[in-house]
Amino acid sequence: MKPNLLKTEFKGMEDLATSVFACDKNLVIKYINPSAEILFELSHDQALNENISLFFTEINFFKDALRQAKAKQSSYREYEYFVKTKQNKTICVSFTITPIEKKEFDFIVEFSQMDQQLRVAREERMFIQQQANSELLRNLAHEIRNPLGGLRGAAQLLEKELKEKSLKEYTQVIIDEADRLQNLMNKLLIPHQLPLYKKTNIHEVLERVRSLILSEFPENLNLTRDYDVSLPEFIGDREKLIQAVLNVARNGVQAMLEVKSKGKMNLNFITRAESQIVFHKKKHTTAIRLDIIDSGPGIDKKLLDKIFYPLVSGKDNGSGLGLSLAQNFITQHNGMIDCSSTPGKTKFSIVLPIENNLKINEAKK
Ligand SMILES: Nc1ncnc2c1ncn2[C@@H]1O[C@H](COP(=O)(O)OP(=O)(O)OP(=O)(O)O)[C@@H](O)[C@H]1O
Ligand SMILES: [Mg+2]
Repeated sequence: MKPNLLKTEFKGMEDLATSVFACDKNLVIKYINPSAEILFELSHDQALNENISLFFTEINFFKDALRQAKAKQSSYREYEYFVKTKQNKTICVSFTITPIEKKEFDFIVEFSQMDQQLRVAREERMFIQQQANSELLRNLAHEIRNPLGGLRGAAQLLEKELKEKSLKEYTQVIIDEADRLQNLMNKLLIPHQLPLYKKTNIHEVLERVRSLILSEFPENLNLTRDYDVSLPEFIGDREKLIQAVLNVARNGVQAMLEVKSKGKMNLNFITRAESQIVFHKKKHTTAIRLDIIDSGPGIDKKLLDKIFYPLVSGKDNGSGLGLSLAQNFITQHNGMIDCSSTPGKTKFSIVLPIENNLKINEAKK
């Protein structure tokens, strides 16, 4: 247990995603926050009264930085610096030293792991891009939908007036193509329909997807599950989650089917609990991680960075909306979806925070 003094003094630091240390004049550690416990692989009690030099290979460098921060009475920041954890693992961090004038504490150091920073920056970029894309497409879909109705109606009227049967072939082309476009526009507008939130069990979602996939692709498919059945329920829109997972799983099977010399087609659903995970600039105490893994040929390198963009497809007949919709639905649950792919193993990971601030809006039936 942390002493009460520290609890109140560092209350705001307990939930930070960055790792915080507070030390006295002699570099003796007086407090570390939970993120620091995880990053440096030791508990608060183990860290207490240790010297911070424990984590540095060149402590003189650190002392010098501290001197500079104090001389200027402002923060000192260092990018890409290597430190050691308690278990002697080397990690690349950036750190900021901030002097504080308090009796018990002399300065605070904030560490953040570099690859984590890069990942957060990438996610943030993707998130902003996705919001912009989604807005653009929604406006476009609205603009296209209305004149499309007019076009279709006019073609129908024209068809009735046509005396010569062979000419109807042309009006039929207009009507069919208008219907195809209409379908596409409807799909683009789906993510903006109001969600229905209720208590949701991830395994019910997965079992539903499993039966849909098995009925759609009965051929030679080995669909295995490895569930952590202790995972709690969370508030979510069941139908949208089913659609998201279905889009991902369907892509996997379609990719495996494309291989000419089809061997065994393996699709695997794995669920696990995640703790203290950071994404969308927030730390989530507990989350569900769902991995959907296929043994297909993998995603084309040129496509990999773009697959979540709408209308991006590697297939002749693909509309390129499946993954963009899936990402939209997962983001509505404050979650995240990511992908890694090598030939023989393509993994989509979906992370859904348990405490996602969503409110139940569907009455119990
Ligand atoms: N598991 C996978 N293995 C190989 N390639 C994949 C996989 N998942 C996605 N892809 C690639 O990403 C592209 C985009 O997928 P997405 O689901 O968004 O669109 P689509 O499948 O082409 O069309 P739609 O789902 O709208 O019918 C696919 O066309 C395919 O080239
Ligand atoms: Mg698809």
